Amino acid sequence: MKKLSQNILPLGLLVVLVVIFLAVFDIAGKWESEPEAERGAYAVPARNPQAMVAALQTAGPNPGPAKPLKLQEGHWAGMEAICITTELIKKLKLPPDIKGVLLDEVTLAAATSGFMAGDIVVEINRRPVRDLKEFRECTMAVKDRKSVEVTVDRKRVLTKLVLQADILGIAQMESAPMVPAGSIAPHPYRGPCTDCHSIGTTGELSPDPGAIILPPPPIPVGAVPPHRDWGKDCFSCHGLIKQ
Ligand code: HEC
Ligand code: HEC
Repeated sequence: MKKLSQNILPLGLLVVLVVIFLAVFDIAGKWESEPEAERGAYAVPARNPQAMVAALQTAGPNPGPAKPLKLQEGHWAGMEAICITTELIKKLKLPPDIKGVLLDEVTLAAATSGFMAGDIVVEINRRPVRDLKEFRECTMAVKDRKSVEVTVDRKRVLTKLVLQADILGIAQMESAPMVPAGSIAPHPYRGPCTDCHSIGTTGELSPDPGAIILPPPPIPVGAVPPHRDWGKDCFSCHGLIKQ
């Protein structure tokens, strides 16, 4: 009897230690796999592609406590898919309860597989696609395949098509463009700006090179203009190369 209790005591202690160790280990594991974006960091471990996408979507000049932006567009095997908003339903006179993603542009594999702009993707590989998030998830499930059945709503008729490509891959997602603070929306009110836009000026070349007009180069007296006649006073625009 004495011998047994002598054995049980260290054994129990060992079990307790193991349980504590596991608990601590598990918490550490959770911390590690928590998406970096939630902590507003730029550096994301490459082994967590979802966190990386989230971080890229939210990365601004000062990410702060970042939240993922609403997805606006997905690109997959020649499909450009956009989310169906109430605004779009009104504009395109779609049924108010319609679910799916709208193809607003079709090229490459999607075009040769018979998809058309205006098709609404409602299923991929028989899995429902109700929004862009599900669209992306469905593409992840078939990424390594060369073909997949896709159901589209074409003018309110459900049509099954087979998307064929060298490799289907995963849809690349986009959110609305970054806008500078204080911008005026060119579109109707759609909710809080930061649901969809990151605010800042990075991510794009600033100033926009397309908006810069370089001064014409200096020319020597008597040069022949390569351009149309802009008047005899060449030196109102050109500097003079002194010889
Ligand atoms: C539900 C999402 C959503 C919300 C909310 C939203 N926008 Fe937009 N915004 C977009 C999308 C998508 C575009 C791209 C053009 C388009 O589709 O209208 C855009 C375009 C813009 C542009 C033009 C950017 C460019 O580079 O072309 C500006 C500026 C802008 N929005 C400002 C705002 C402001 C300010 C607010 C808040 C009052 C706001 N947006 C709210 C989705 C949104
Ligand atoms: C209204 C402004 C303007 C006037 C006036 C003008 N130019 Fe130009 N010129 C330009 C611009 C802008 C360029 C460069 C872009 C282009 O080629 O269109 C240019 C390019 C040139 C070039 C090529 C220079 C290079 O090194 O590439 C020559 C040579 C030239 N102009 C000669 C003339 C002459 C000679 C006159 C007068 C008869 C004249 N230009 C009047 C604006 C002007």
